[in-house]
Amino acid sequence: MGRLTGRTCIVTGGAGGLGSATVRRLCAEDGQVVIADIMLEPAQALAEDIRASGGDAIALHVDLGDPDSIRKLIDDTLAHYGKLEVIFNNGAATQADFLNRDGAAGDMEIEVWDTTFAVNARGTMLMIKYALPALIESGSGAIINTSSGAALLGDLARTAYAASKSAVNALTLYVAAQYGKQGVTCNVISPGMVPTAPSRANQPELIRMVERHHLTPELGYPEDIAAMVALLASDEGRFVSGQILRVDGGVSKAFAHVADNRDQFEAHVANIWGGAA
Ligand SMILES: NC(=O)c1ccc[n+]([C@@H]2O[C@H](COP(=O)([O-])OP(=O)(O)OC[C@H]3O[C@@H](n4cnc5c(N)ncnc54)[C@H](O)[C@@H]3O)[C@@H](O)[C@H]2O)c1
Repeated sequence: MGRLTGRTCIVTGGAGGLGSATVRRLCAEDGQVVIADIMLEPAQALAEDIRASGGDAIALHVDLGDPDSIRKLIDDTLAHYGKLEVIFNNGAATQADFLNRDGAAGDMEIEVWDTTFAVNARGTMLMIKYALPALIESGSGAIINTSSGAALLGDLARTAYAASKSAVNALTLYVAAQYGKQGVTCNVISPGMVPTAPSRANQPELIRMVERHHLTPELGYPEDIAAMVALLASDEGRFVSGQILRVDGGVSKAFAHVADNRDQFEAHVANIWGGAA
């Protein structure tokens, strides 16, 4: 028996990279999973694949920028499964052509800022608002939001994206404080760089450059994020709330010079210990 037997979970952005890996993991843990995405076709294909191998998943359309669409997602989930225990707020305006317009503050298009906040920040808040009555009723509600390391460090572009993810961090702390006593945990996962298979293959230099700054041998895989979601969604995560969980290979936890000095450091260690360390 899996850790999520009898738990209904919604995964927004469930057709995407981290979303689809998490959907598969939650189903492998015997959860009942709603794959919610603006891209209905890949969500449906994933649901069919999961059902064909004995899992329990359905696909539903949602546009996180549209409050009525979010309310309908919650209503349709309750109509189908009758209850709701877990929401993984993972969907975000990540379309490359859109993100490429999100530059420095001085060049910011108002429409890019507003759409980013409508989908990433307001969308996450409304998912929580509309799901809360069912999550509280379940007695073991778990809200898992998705942020980014971009919310915690400065960068040269993607200003709106980073600011919207900071809003998600703050929202998480407030929701955890407000509804914890009613049996609802609320946490946010802040992933490190988890490239898609095509970007691993097509951008080896970029991957190597970023990898140097992570403390782990490799960058993350979607399954690494899925594993944390499964823990937080299960009873094993019931004492974890109000946390910004950095599932990021330690990239946020070391000075930038660590990557630059690593070769020198390793040569020094090898010199002292004859390479035994
Ligand atoms: N992959 C990484 O390296 C990384 C790093 C930090 C944070 N994140 C965060 O993780 C989450 C998932 O990222 P990913 O890499 O899997 O991206 P992805 O682009 O593969 O998936 C995002 C999904 O969200 C959906 N989506 C976009 N706009 C939507 C809308 N308006 N309504 C509903 N669904 C919508 C897309 O169709 C897509 O399926 C995002 O919140 C992202 O900001 C990812």
